[in-house]
Amino acid sequence: MSFRSLPKVELHMHHEGAAPPEFIRRLAQEKSVNLSGVFSEDGSYAYRDFVHFLSVYEAATQVLQTPEDYARLTRAILEQSAEHGVIYAETFLSPDFCGGGDVGAWREYLHAIREAADEGERDTGVVLRGIVTCIRHFGPDRAKPIALCAAETAGDWIVGFGMGGDENKGKQADFGYSFDMAREAGLRLTTHAGEWRGPREVRDAIEDLGVERIGHGVRVIEDLALVDVLAERGIVLEVCPGSNVRLGVYPHLSAHPIEKLRERGVKVTISTDDPPFFHTTMTREYDNLARVFGWNEDDFLDLNRVAANAAFCDEATRARILERL
Ligand code: HPA
Ligand code: ZN
Repeated sequence: MSFRSLPKVELHMHHEGAAPPEFIRRLAQEKSVNLSGVFSEDGSYAYRDFVHFLSVYEAATQVLQTPEDYARLTRAILEQSAEHGVIYAETFLSPDFCGGGDVGAWREYLHAIREAADEGERDTGVVLRGIVTCIRHFGPDRAKPIALCAAETAGDWIVGFGMGGDENKGKQADFGYSFDMAREAGLRLTTHAGEWRGPREVRDAIEDLGVERIGHGVRVIEDLALVDVLAERGIVLEVCPGSNVRLGVYPHLSAHPIEKLRERGVKVTISTDDPPFFHTTMTREYDNLARVFGWNEDDFLDLNRVAANAAFCDEATRARILERL
């Protein structure tokens, strides 16, 4: 049995990371951008490890040069999401790639993305919202103009602020200024933590940045006292099991802590991260979790309710999503 048509809520996906390789190849051809090293012989994205993945990701992103390119990508994302039963998704958008951190340029990109999302919602029924994201390995000084872009466009569509990139660089606290600015603008907060570094990073994310959701967070399992803190405070984990296995955080799904975290009362949700990079889809994630952990439709309904309640959208949108689950 496949869970393709089951309604799903996805909270953790990178906008550029959802671009199918064919989409990137087509744009590269149109713009005569040389993407040698980005693809393997079979046409999929080629990378050796996480740090190399980040550099291939950034190389592929070079073909996205205009607001219209992002509008096209947004339409492709919504079609892909709809094919896998997703009814609500949040994607990470990086003004670093959309106008280089300039607020005026970012507004133009956002306008195009939003128009495409509204049109896509009418066609597919998928509701999309954006989380502005700074990039950790670009450093805290470059995060500040990104937080300003976020603050200036905070509202009913840009609903959150977050951080991706290389978790092994610097500390969460280095980005406190940017997260404070975003919080003061009314944005909800999440950050990648506890994927490459251990529980300490998850603690820092909560204590130093005050986030209410954590991207991945799975290595918190190495500190059960902290697992209990997450459960008590209702901190939500955006778990991406296929990404974790593909990048070697865990050798296979049966070694993944998602089941243990859930049993211990942590609010877990399921996402794809960068689906074509990790050869995954929401359907594949659900099918694999069902096979390995025996989860059924009721388990997934529970998880999707958790995700809908943790979504950063306004309450009217949340009510619409909950009704469709
Ligand atoms: N992890 C961290 N940073 C990222 C990712 C990811 O999967 N994709 C794009 N930036
Ligand atoms: Zn991610």
